[in-house]
Amino acid sequence: MQLTVDPGRVLFCRDKMIYGHFLEHFHRQIYGGIYDPSSPFADEEGFRSDVLEALKAIRVPIIRWPGGCFVSAYHWQDGVGKDRPFTFNKAWRVEEDNSFGTDEFIRLCRKLDCEPYICTNAGTGTPEEMSDWVEYCNLPFEGRYAKQRIENGFPEPHGVKYWSIGNENYGPWEIGAWKSDQWSLMVEEAAKMMVRVDPSIQLSAAALPDVDWNLRLLQRAGERLRWISIHGYWDSIHQTNALGSYDRCMAYTAQLEDSIRKVRGLLMALGLEKKIRIAFDEWNLRGWYHPNAHTLHQPMDKGEYITPRDDNDINASYTMADAVFSACFLNTLLRNADIVGMANFAPAVNTRGAIFTHEKGIVLRTTYHVFHMYVNLMGDEVIDAHITDVPVLHTVDGLQGRQDVPMVDAVATRCSGSGDVALALVNKSPDAFCPVSLRMQGTGRTEMTTLMGGSTDDYNDIGRDHVRPFANDEAVQPIFGGWKLNLPPHSVNVLRIRPE
Ligand code: AHR
Repeated sequence: MQLTVDPGRVLFCRDKMIYGHFLEHFHRQIYGGIYDPSSPFADEEGFRSDVLEALKAIRVPIIRWPGGCFVSAYHWQDGVGKDRPFTFNKAWRVEEDNSFGTDEFIRLCRKLDCEPYICTNAGTGTPEEMSDWVEYCNLPFEGRYAKQRIENGFPEPHGVKYWSIGNENYGPWEIGAWKSDQWSLMVEEAAKMMVRVDPSIQLSAAALPDVDWNLRLLQRAGERLRWISIHGYWDSIHQTNALGSYDRCMAYTAQLEDSIRKVRGLLMALGLEKKIRIAFDEWNLRGWYHPNAHTLHQPMDKGEYITPRDDNDINASYTMADAVFSACFLNTLLRNADIVGMANFAPAVNTRGAIFTHEKGIVLRTTYHVFHMYVNLMGDEVIDAHITDVPVLHTVDGLQGRQDVPMVDAVATRCSGSGDVALALVNKSPDAFCPVSLRMQGTGRTEMTTLMGGSTDDYNDIGRDHVRPFANDEAVQPIFGGWKLNLPPHSVNVLRIRPE
């Protein structure tokens, strides 16, 4: 395989929000995850300090909250003020004590120095309730809701810039599932009211790679939107938890660009591609395990629909398949960073997240280390890279017939500050090294960082944290006009080149 890189040809800059995260009121993401006042790790405001430190180390730029399906039956006023009622959330059929609400979420984002991104309730909610939430968060003092925030101890506006109207309201599983013409009306009315409260907010709306849904949405409300939200879970195991094999997960990487391509095409057809960007605001290789949640038959026995959710906590589920897949997805985001401005890993903590919490500490799963490598080592400018002679891993049925799955996924970036070049090189092969001939003008000092584990099924767990990035400079040999690289099997590699 040959990779030719041209640091002088910058294609575009990536928005750091492509490394964003998502937290939902589901299972142990909030309670027992990021927020656990009873934990010995809790800080003065009840947040797990060990989780906060881990999230700071991957420089989380934005967090989407509170859902997800949860939000489509959530009323934000239950989660502010002194008296928080117990409510029953019909999306997940669980009681919510509302001890974590808007103000706690803002506190979390301030501790992490990241942007808050609020997804509103377009299921049982109304455009007025959504715009009242904007009043509560962003108006300095006018109106009852801003005054309520001040009474709650927050004299200054929260200044929430990013808002989404609804979550997957296209799906029959969602509380408040709408038809496309109903949806475009809902979004138009909600956007109208929310922007009249604070014209500076940036609005997104729930969408999917479907022409009919998006066409009506964009024709009616496109002028009021800055983002369009789509989601992706490829190993769709919500009902079974039957984890796809490593090979199957690698086959999914052939589909990573499909949704982006479809939405990009429609935005371009409508002349909106410079005005509206894609927010891939939920993504993960694996769907969350919650059997009998979205089914017609709703069991009475919690053992059939609540207890199984604990199986998301099995750390052996999150292997190098998750790491290699996630790196390929981040590469896809970088290659499309001209139109994808935000992405949110679903979720950040517990469930299928990058960080697992337990009473004695945390486990950094394989995907956590992928984020750590990309956020800290990859550049902000995407530069031209030409790849030839890539070995084929296997072929799969794609959008247009049989499709090759290349063994290696590579993307090149440049750090606008230092001028360093940073290449992300992912070898998807389960068992073969992949030699790469890297061509680049000039010379430089190289540093290779590799994440590979001991096998495709390797993982981290309590008392087992050996799967982590390591310096792998012996994989890089200088040759005339560049370098010879030797990418290990099932590995995520970042090569930094400091031009000399
Ligand atoms: O499985 C979790 C759910 O996936 C989220 O709540 C929803 O947004 C998506 O369908």
